[in-house]
Amino acid sequence: MDRSSAEIIKENRDYTLFPWAVQGSYSPIHLVRGEGVWFWDGEGNKWLDLCSQLINLNIGHGNRKVIEAIKRQADALCFAGPGFATEPRGRLGKKLAEVTGLAKAFYTLGGTEANESAMKIARTYTGRPKIITRYRSYHGDTMGSMSAGGDYRRWPVEPGVPGMVRVFDPYCYRCPFGKTVDSCARECVSHIEEVIQLEGPHRIAAMLAEGITGTNGVLVPPDDYFPRLRALLDKYGILLIDDEVMAGFGRTGKWLATQHYGIKPDIVTCAKGLTSGYMPLGAVIVSQEIADYLETNMLWTGLTFSGHPVSCAAALATLEFYEEAEVFANVEEQGAHLGRRLESMKERYACVGDVRYKGLFSMIEFVRDKASKEPLAPYAGTSPEMAAFAAYLRSRYVHTYLRFNVCFVAPPLIITRDELDYGLDIVEEGLAEVDKLLA
Ligand SMILES: Cc1ncc(COP(=O)(O)O)c(C=O)c1O
Repeated sequence: MDRSSAEIIKENRDYTLFPWAVQGSYSPIHLVRGEGVWFWDGEGNKWLDLCSQLINLNIGHGNRKVIEAIKRQADALCFAGPGFATEPRGRLGKKLAEVTGLAKAFYTLGGTEANESAMKIARTYTGRPKIITRYRSYHGDTMGSMSAGGDYRRWPVEPGVPGMVRVFDPYCYRCPFGKTVDSCARECVSHIEEVIQLEGPHRIAAMLAEGITGTNGVLVPPDDYFPRLRALLDKYGILLIDDEVMAGFGRTGKWLATQHYGIKPDIVTCAKGLTSGYMPLGAVIVSQEIADYLETNMLWTGLTFSGHPVSCAAALATLEFYEEAEVFANVEEQGAHLGRRLESMKERYACVGDVRYKGLFSMIEFVRDKASKEPLAPYAGTSPEMAAFAAYLRSRYVHTYLRFNVCFVAPPLIITRDELDYGLDIVEEGLAEVDKLLA
């Protein structure tokens, strides 16, 4: 007998814990099925997904190519221990080397473990203990990657894992150095040199940085940020670990966000768009130099499910789909349109302080007052106005990700112009509601 949606939600709430939520005040949507950029809840409502679930469902729901690849691999060989060679494992490694320009991949189950392993590899390779990260960053949910992340989610696990050194971000709208992007001397990079000096260059293994910062507000850096950072790190023999978990695999229109800036990291970590979430998979991809080192030195990391054949097959099919369907060209086209519409929102709505975007990776930053830039909700908090905006979107069945005073717009990369406009029109109606509250 079919059970009601309310019963299913109740069972979920009674017997499972939802992440990053105070359980008693969390009300999940009962997700039943999905098609492309749309999904349906248990009461038959059709939702537009403007944030690709958790900014991972790049190819949208129901992609037959990937589903068939998963089925074929499950029939052929559903599991192999992490020490075995399999065809999908090797083929995916070769493809990842090709698209990143690096050499070899170690597979994990997601982004958190990828960063965890990357930091371990960097420490053993350099023989140095410390990792530089940025305050407005998130790198995952284990003790190590959580300690590396700079945002408020680390607070409950503090003091966490020692050896993390944090620096400021290229957050040009609220520059921590009080500068403007046109006239600054890129203090967001130059202050890192002072930190390196004070911490001891010979004690720092790597800097871990998101290619474009995601959950902490889509902080698109100035074009010369990464080239300058790469040069600085090279000066001191410090590795660059590029966390592409959220920004990678076409989200910004390229395989890696850092490819927009013409630099090559020493290590790339990825997950999310690697399989679009169809199967759990993350990867750490290392440079030739590190791969050579590992020829004669131990790799001090391993997981039972590393190199899962079904996950690797799903990733291969996903990457093939990106190319065959020319998904990145769509990102460029729809991303340009998205950028124009966001800029127009910034002009027209009092509550919009800033908009930031690259490809289909974007957000709207809300302010109480454009001149003072007072955020419409405090850091790590919310406000009646942000809650009203969220409620409006929900009432119109538009799903997106809101955090403090920021709303993300990061739809599946296969979105059409009409679908995008449909969602953005509703976002604009929500902005008008917020403006009424502020008037
Ligand atoms: C930049 C970044 N790194 C790492 C992670 C952690 O990845 P996962 O949730 O797959 O463990 C995330 C998750 O959102 C992320 O955005």
